[in-house]
Amino acid sequence: MKHMDFFRGGRFIGKTVVVTGGGTGIGKRIAKDLYDEGAFVHILGRRSEKLLEARKEAFSASTVSNVADDGRFFCHKCDVSDDRRVGEVFDRIRDSTGPARGLVNCAAINPSRNRIAETVLEDWRATLEVNLTGAFNCCKAAVEQMLAGGGGSIVNISSVGGLKAFRTRTSYNASKFGMIGLTESLALDYARENIRANAVCPGYVATELTAPLFEKMGEEGFEALVEAHAMGRLGRPEEISRAVLFLLSEEASFITGVALPVDGGYLLKG
Ligand SMILES: NC(=O)c1ccc[n+]([C@@H]2O[C@H](COP(=O)([O-])OP(=O)(O)OC[C@H]3O[C@@H](n4cnc5c(N)ncnc54)[C@H](OP(=O)(O)O)[C@@H]3O)[C@@H](O)[C@H]2O)c1
Repeated sequence: MKHMDFFRGGRFIGKTVVVTGGGTGIGKRIAKDLYDEGAFVHILGRRSEKLLEARKEAFSASTVSNVADDGRFFCHKCDVSDDRRVGEVFDRIRDSTGPARGLVNCAAINPSRNRIAETVLEDWRATLEVNLTGAFNCCKAAVEQMLAGGGGSIVNISSVGGLKAFRTRTSYNASKFGMIGLTESLALDYARENIRANAVCPGYVATELTAPLFEKMGEEGFEALVEAHAMGRLGRPEEISRAVLFLLSEEASFITGVALPVDGGYLLKG
């Protein structure tokens, strides 16, 4: 009974939604929340063990299903910077649960926290390849399916660092500003074909990605970072997820091409 009640309210019932970087952090939370709202969820990442863990956690925390596998949560080992592999995975997704109606590009790396003079070309290339070309590859594959399937919604996870530069983040800033350009371009090109594209720009959240930074900056630096958010705290994965699900859903049917800060007032403080 609880199962049925919940499903009546789910915003993604029967919809195929792809989440890159869905094995950890913010992407893992987004995938879990989509699962809870009735979607067929497909997560992509390079480490199978992280993907399987995320799937297991989604089942065990589920408010809608108490079975180990109800056929709605799928893991795909995939490096998003490999266009051929992305193509194969999206074909498999379409063949298993139907054309993608939603895509969240969450996969990212940040191997170099440096100014340009200290940034090695290898790190620049890797960052752009994963964060931006990876998003391009997945958007391209998803848009093809959305055009055939009657439309869809894309949310690209940028960053407050995609709206305003951080010091010593040459490659990461460039990739995250680029994601907003990619988002606007998609929004404009497909606005008449029922495909929306938006970006979410989180403030700081404690995850695998930020752990090395927090460790390096020490207690004082960490406190200053927390204080830099007007609300005086970091964000939580579920707070980013709620904004993503809103933009993905029909509730946001007249919203396209925006870059939404979800940052506890970080950008306000400049
Ligand atoms: N945490 C923050 O403070 C913060 C702030 C602003 C924006 N963001 C953005 O939020 C998103 C999620 O980050 P997070 O903080 O949740 O970090 P995270 O836990 O490190 O998530 C990044 C995910 O991307 C996946 N990934 C990396 N390279 C990949 C590749 N080549 N192909 C496929 N998947 C790949 C990783 O899995 P594998 O290593 O297994 O592939 C991982 O699951 C990122 O776009 C990040 O830039 C985070």
